[in-house]
Amino acid sequence: MKNTPVFIIVWFATLSILVATAWWIVTQTTRNWFERDVTLRSDLVASSVRHALLQDSGLENIDRLRELLRDIARDERILAASLCNPEMRRITATPGFPNSLSCQKVGPYVHVTKGGAQGPWTAWREITELPPGGQVHVSAIPLMDDLRTYGFIVLIQDLSFVARREDSTQRFLLWAFVVLATLASIVTLISSRLLRRGWSKELREMARGDSGRRSPEFAPLLSDLRDLLERLAKEEQSELLGGVWTPQRLKLTLQRHLHGERIIVVANREPYIHDRAPDGGIRVLHPASGLVSALEPVMRACSGVWIAHGAGSADRETVDARDHVRVPPGEQSYSVRRLWLTPDEERGYYYGFANEGLWPLCHVVHARPIFRAEDWQYYRAVNEKFADAVCQEVDTPDPVILVQDYHFALLPRLLRDRLPHSTILTFWHIPWPNAEQLSICPWHVEIVEGLLGSSILGFQTQHHCNNFLHAADRFLESRLDREDFAVIRKQRRTLVRAYPISVEWPHHWAAAAPPIAQCRMEVRAELQLPENAKLGVGVDRLDYTKGIEERFRAIERLLDREPEWIGCFSFLQIASPSRTKIKRYDRLSPDLEQLAQRINTRFETADWRPIILRRQHTEPPDVFRLYRAADLCYVSSLHDGMNLVAKEYIAARDDETGVLVLSKFTGAAYELAEALIVNPYDLEEASTALSAALRMPLDEQRVRMQAMRRLIAELNVYRWAGRMLVDASRVRRREQLLGLLSVPEAR
Ligand code: G6P
Repeated sequence: MKNTPVFIIVWFATLSILVATAWWIVTQTTRNWFERDVTLRSDLVASSVRHALLQDSGLENIDRLRELLRDIARDERILAASLCNPEMRRITATPGFPNSLSCQKVGPYVHVTKGGAQGPWTAWREITELPPGGQVHVSAIPLMDDLRTYGFIVLIQDLSFVARREDSTQRFLLWAFVVLATLASIVTLISSRLLRRGWSKELREMARGDSGRRSPEFAPLLSDLRDLLERLAKEEQSELLGGVWTPQRLKLTLQRHLHGERIIVVANREPYIHDRAPDGGIRVLHPASGLVSALEPVMRACSGVWIAHGAGSADRETVDARDHVRVPPGEQSYSVRRLWLTPDEERGYYYGFANEGLWPLCHVVHARPIFRAEDWQYYRAVNEKFADAVCQEVDTPDPVILVQDYHFALLPRLLRDRLPHSTILTFWHIPWPNAEQLSICPWHVEIVEGLLGSSILGFQTQHHCNNFLHAADRFLESRLDREDFAVIRKQRRTLVRAYPISVEWPHHWAAAAPPIAQCRMEVRAELQLPENAKLGVGVDRLDYTKGIEERFRAIERLLDREPEWIGCFSFLQIASPSRTKIKRYDRLSPDLEQLAQRINTRFETADWRPIILRRQHTEPPDVFRLYRAADLCYVSSLHDGMNLVAKEYIAARDDETGVLVLSKFTGAAYELAEALIVNPYDLEEASTALSAALRMPLDEQRVRMQAMRRLIAELNVYRWAGRMLVDASRVRRREQLLGLLSVPEAR
């Protein structure tokens, strides 16, 4: 609390002034009381003496008078007394009566004159110091009745008790004040803190929209806050709209909105795999993964660290002591931190729960998901392992962490617990099922709960966002903010947004590829096709969700329906082996081979076959050469989050020709309206589209391709990342603003 010293000084000064004033008032009052007391006492003594004189009829009986004075002096407060006659001579006095207070000295002040009761009589009183140093009260009081004047009595009273009493009264008062003031201050302090905390809590709840209450006193502050947030959102929105997103712009956005923090990506698949080559050397492979091809350019632009499973056969040999390696080779703009998994972990977490459970669960392809309790344990343990790795990599309390895909559904919550101030952007690259489907997974509640650790949860389409919002609403105690597309759970808000992923633009593999004409010629020569033969291409991982079988059957149907294509149209299918330890995947390769062979046998000629199946990993330069050589690309996924092959094909076609035939069950189909959109299960529709693609005039190809290229140039992957980062900064700013409203103790 910054104002504490000022507060203490003010508190102390006020208390001192209060105590000093009270002190003065009390001193004056008690002194007056005691003086009145002493005066009263001396008047009483004088009156009793007068009584005695009246009874004894005068001052003659000296012994009696001496006795009388001694009696008076027995009072412990009366130190001495003397009696003086009207002639100012002493009649008698108690022993030790001070000579300095002789009758002659005191008399003139008493104004005793002869003439008895008619004279002007006044008592004289004075406080004085008497040796050896005590304060005394001296009073000289006339003794008379209506007829005569007897003289006057001088009384000396001890005043030291007054000083003692004053002392103890003042001390008592002082302490009473200190205790009272301290108690009052503590009570005020506690109640003000409680009040502030209550206000702050209520205000934050209202600002977050978590509270049903609306205290009118907060209305102006809240409306200011909302104005500010809206202004910031508009500024950011206008920044997002328009203009081309480039790596530089993305980097600037990161610097401007997130103060240049490096980002931490967590994705199971690493962007560069170091592999032991057949000749014994080490080669670098680019994995066949849409996730990797999208995220890698973002990391090159932003720099930071990518935490991934080190799965390459030479990965361990290429890292430093901290398991880091700088990439891309030769460029070295960011780091990959490799995590090593045991064979059991890989089997349970990757092959088991992620790819035999979640993968078929999320894709509507009629493949039965398999959920094993043991796999779930490994999935949890590996998510923990990655959370530990993130904590080792962060260098600020509020890092920006990008969690990728279905391998890490629990990671956002684990990170939120460990790094409460981090900004966690989770992106789910594959489809998100509806609530019924999701509930097949025995741990669906934990999965939804885990993802809600994110600040922002991104999906490819609004439809998948809606599915998630519905699941959160149905399976967890949470509140939906339908205006803002957010889930509020345990006072934390997770934005659920659609961020359709994309490719880099311009694409560096396209830029590095040979000219289109050269690609066409070379590829046809390699495939031993006539120069003017039509070529279709498909590039996929060997995955049952990609609809490769349906694709081959559509080609078969085309040849059945339009035999004129026999001998002059071939389809080249690149199929990268994937997840081969899983039975369902392992079976796919021979099944496809058999299917291709059956179709080829039906239609092949001596020097031509319709389907060329290459079941091998193909590096991006070759893939891009094929894209540029082909007349059409057929993406026939049965269900796909986005499918970046479709976008890569468009990025590769800088000649603005070529036709994309695209499954309507891909996320890409929502954006690429100029493609020929088909239902891949419907072989009539698909084969008709293939025919239309092959016959499409160049002009129409150009119009369609130009429109799609314009769209992807604008909605490229830098914009995808930029939108998420800008939204993240908005979330961060909102949290900071709400943080400002809270007393630090309440956080
Ligand atoms: C999909 C997933 C990615 C994954 C890729 C390749 O695109 O969304 O997360 O990296 O498939 O699969 P793999 O299992 O080889 O990484």
